[in-house]
Amino acid sequence: MRVSIFGTGYVGLVTGTCLAEVGHQVVCVDVDAAKVRGLEEGVVPIYEPGLTPMVKANHAAGRLRFTTDAADALDFGEVIFIAVGTPPDEDGSADLQYVLAVARSIGEHMQRPSVVVNKSTVPVGTADKVRAAISEALANRGIDIPFQVVSNPEFLKEGDAINDCMRPDRIVVGAQDEDAVAMMRRLYAPFNRNHDRMMTMDVRSAELTKYAANAMLATKISFMNEIANIAEKVGADVEMVRKGIGSDPRIGWHFIYPGAGYGGSCFPKDVQALTRTASQYGYQARVLDAVEAVNDAQKGHLFELMLRHYGNAEALRGKTIAVWGLAFKPNTDDMREASSRRLLAQLWEAGARVRAFDPEARDESRRIFGERSDLVLCDSADAALEGADALAVVTEWKQFRSPDFAMLKRKLSDAVVFDGRNLYEPIDVETQGLAYWGIGRGRSV
Ligand code: UGA
Repeated sequence: MRVSIFGTGYVGLVTGTCLAEVGHQVVCVDVDAAKVRGLEEGVVPIYEPGLTPMVKANHAAGRLRFTTDAADALDFGEVIFIAVGTPPDEDGSADLQYVLAVARSIGEHMQRPSVVVNKSTVPVGTADKVRAAISEALANRGIDIPFQVVSNPEFLKEGDAINDCMRPDRIVVGAQDEDAVAMMRRLYAPFNRNHDRMMTMDVRSAELTKYAANAMLATKISFMNEIANIAEKVGADVEMVRKGIGSDPRIGWHFIYPGAGYGGSCFPKDVQALTRTASQYGYQARVLDAVEAVNDAQKGHLFELMLRHYGNAEALRGKTIAVWGLAFKPNTDDMREASSRRLLAQLWEAGARVRAFDPEARDESRRIFGERSDLVLCDSADAALEGADALAVVTEWKQFRSPDFAMLKRKLSDAVVFDGRNLYEPIDVETQGLAYWGIGRGRSV
């Protein structure tokens, strides 16, 4: 099939590339000419394992191309995806200006009956707004072309997006019309060979499904962080508790890892946006309010542990803290809403210096923080330890999982490890003569 995708951000690029990989003809449109030129030359602007070779291979095979020309894309595609960003507004609701700008552009250039598929994460009711924007643009041209608006939310995880896209656990399609469903079925047939993973429903339910999925996962994390905080108070070890509850299949093992709080471009934004949608309909989403409040506090928890260790903020003045991990999670260079940002701000506020290492997020952190005398971005985990007083682990990159604790003891002059992702067993660290602080590991009784 011929597919046009508006937006070459994370979702658009991964989706377009995977659709090309299974044999569809795909054109990706973006307003950013430099980005489009780069993509045509195989320069992928985001770090996502496996994506660059796949983009290059499909481009070379003639199944994937990039353009700034919306008219070309509308002339080409039978299925038109909207996959542009929905950043939060000042009040936390999703800003639809990019989605609606694409919708207008679709209406301005549409040549034949089309299925318009919204893949951006958008509040319930957005499909109606997209439909209205397209209709208005068509009316301005004085023509009437039939079209359908379908909701097809994405469930990609950064760092594992290719796998999620190629082997989806579900494909949610919200549509009003049988023909549109049939079109989506043809499009996704290559992903549906052995099991039918496509679920069809009404448009609003599909839109809400996306938010409900992310809000549920965020809730599990905040719940577990709350249990960790209680564990610290009562002298229990949350890692034992996690094992104790995860074995119940109704609870499950996923997303119950306590830590330094959730970040990224999705959970923080989507929890807030769903809360806003609820309040616009006169409902106060109390669970979601709490999920957000717990997460916000949790981002400051590592610093709290430092205060407990050192006694007060004044004692941190002049200290050098090695920080392992800046990205909001492993296998990405994305630092949006990353817990590291809060920790660094708190350390700087207290007059401490930071030597940080992240395997991928160095350029991104340079872009965010610029040059500053209290931040050294290091080339390796070991280099971050040079001259450091203490170590804080903020992102659970695999390479941080089994450090040489004897070496840590030699290098860290205050001999203390703050483990924001519970990567280590306290006993392994302590037997080397280091103090250990983890999340929810029963330390403050
Ligand atoms: C999330 C969802 O997992 C995807 O299913 C969804 O498609 C995506 O948002 C989206 O809406 O686009 P992502 O933001 O890439 O994906 O990252 P996650 O792997 O979900 O991690 C989010 C944050 O939660 C990270 O900061 C991670 O460290 C934290 N986390 C995760 C925990 O603190 N504990 C856990 O047990 C799991």
